[in-house]
Amino acid sequence: MIMPVKSTTHPLFLESFDELSRWRQDQAATGPGKAAVGFVPTMGALHEGHLSLVHQSVKECRKTVVSIFVNPLQFGANEDLDRYPRPLDRDMAMCAEAGVDAIFHPLAREMYPHGQDLITKVVPPETLTERLCGLFRPGHFSGVATVVAKLFSLVQPQRAYFGEKDYQQLTVIHHMVRDLNLPLEVVNGATIRERDGLAMSSRNVYLTPEQRALAPVLYEVLTNIANEVRNGTKSISQSIEAGRSRLSSLPGVSLQYLEACDVDSLQPLERFTNSMVVLVAAKFGDVRLIDNVIVRA
Ligand code: PAF
Repeated sequence: MIMPVKSTTHPLFLESFDELSRWRQDQAATGPGKAAVGFVPTMGALHEGHLSLVHQSVKECRKTVVSIFVNPLQFGANEDLDRYPRPLDRDMAMCAEAGVDAIFHPLAREMYPHGQDLITKVVPPETLTERLCGLFRPGHFSGVATVVAKLFSLVQPQRAYFGEKDYQQLTVIHHMVRDLNLPLEVVNGATIRERDGLAMSSRNVYLTPEQRALAPVLYEVLTNIANEVRNGTKSISQSIEAGRSRLSSLPGVSLQYLEACDVDSLQPLERFTNSMVVLVAAKFGDVRLIDNVIVRA
């Protein structure tokens, strides 16, 4: 649904590095209180999940920049780069409505002037990327880390906002910022869900009505595991096994992984002590959905 544009001040639309740099210089003055610049990196096709990050930034920072860039470096050869939704006018209207100050919409030829193969890449540690989504999307997290590092360097935010929905991505970015001593704070935003529990995602639009009706099962399985393990009615492995067999029995659904992991290292957990994250990825036909719940004692 297109949201009505209430705001009269439209965000600046910045395409070149030069335009962004000139705008950024004007924001240099900091003062007490709020951070100067908050940043929400996106690939567009904005939804309530993105907007909740934008609202957090608008509240906490003097200026908010949203980047919209469908980053080719993070897509595999057989993935959905070409068909990824790009509703730019709608995204701009949503940014205006949400009080965004500037939209950074870089061009691939300026981001990767010598092509994707001739760029210095950020390679996150294998322990974070060899499992879960990384197993099914080789090179994906290096593509994400590289573009996010470039965007941080261009936008120079004090705070950057990422959703917990992409938990492995969020973890990779936290580690990158820490390991490379990047001068900013990464802020987590809670996963925003449809009324039936399906996590909001730009890819939900690909689902057929039948797949859409079935998709909330992911959150149902995750919350069952969270409850069973927290209450001690099942061990992690019993509960995960039950979840796996439920998802594997669904017609048209192909389970990629369902795992309970440590919230920081993403290593598999056998026993629940204080916290864990339960992560799932499954294909509904061609549409790959991911979700997770963070469980605390
Ligand atoms: O989560 C996303 O939309 C993308 O992976 C990101 C962080 C904008 C990098 O392209």
